[in-house]
Amino acid sequence: MLALAEKPSVGILISGQGSNMLSILQDAERPDAPYTVRLVAADRSAPGLALAKARGVPTLLLDRKSPSFEEDLLQAVASCDLVVLAGFLSILPPKLVRAFKGRILNIHPSLLPAHGGRGMYGKKVHAAVLAQGDLISGCTVHWVEEGVDTGAILAKAKVLVLREDTPETLGARILPLEHWLLVAALRQIAEERMKR
Ligand code: GAR
Repeated sequence: MLALAEKPSVGILISGQGSNMLSILQDAERPDAPYTVRLVAADRSAPGLALAKARGVPTLLLDRKSPSFEEDLLQAVASCDLVVLAGFLSILPPKLVRAFKGRILNIHPSLLPAHGGRGMYGKKVHAAVLAQGDLISGCTVHWVEEGVDTGAILAKAKVLVLREDTPETLGARILPLEHWLLVAALRQIAEERMKR
């Protein structure tokens, strides 16, 4: 009899409200999800942790200011096959990036390589898009490598920037696209892993 390939396990790292995390947790509950979520870890007291706990997912609160933070992070995800950065604001230790080469995904709220890099997150990204007068924005899922927001791009989704947009309205239009794109990319990667 052919052994069924095991679903890859996913560790999700968050720093904030965790809406991208929640879209993954909801998807993971579907019987056809090609992955399981092993844990949700945060680098600060993030509201998203309570959402994960409420769904029965193991959670871990790490202290990004602790001298052992990098080691704690490494240990937290050590047993995961894939890691998803879902609004995670700490820079990953190079040791972790190297150990998980080709296994860490990030979602970014712009069309990379535009408006990425150190310090570019959340509302700041949308403000930069508006300041530049871009006509199109969106979100990007990419592999994580040692540079910030520089890894190979897996998928993008686009929205039109409206004349009356503020960073808030633009961000609010992009966020649901992020939820969809991140889950779609994660599913595809997990399915590919199961075929190996
Ligand atoms: C999302 O918009 C995500 O793309 C962004 O933080 C937000 C987290 O929201 N990430 C970055 O800007 C990373 N550079 P969430 O906690 O509701 O998922």
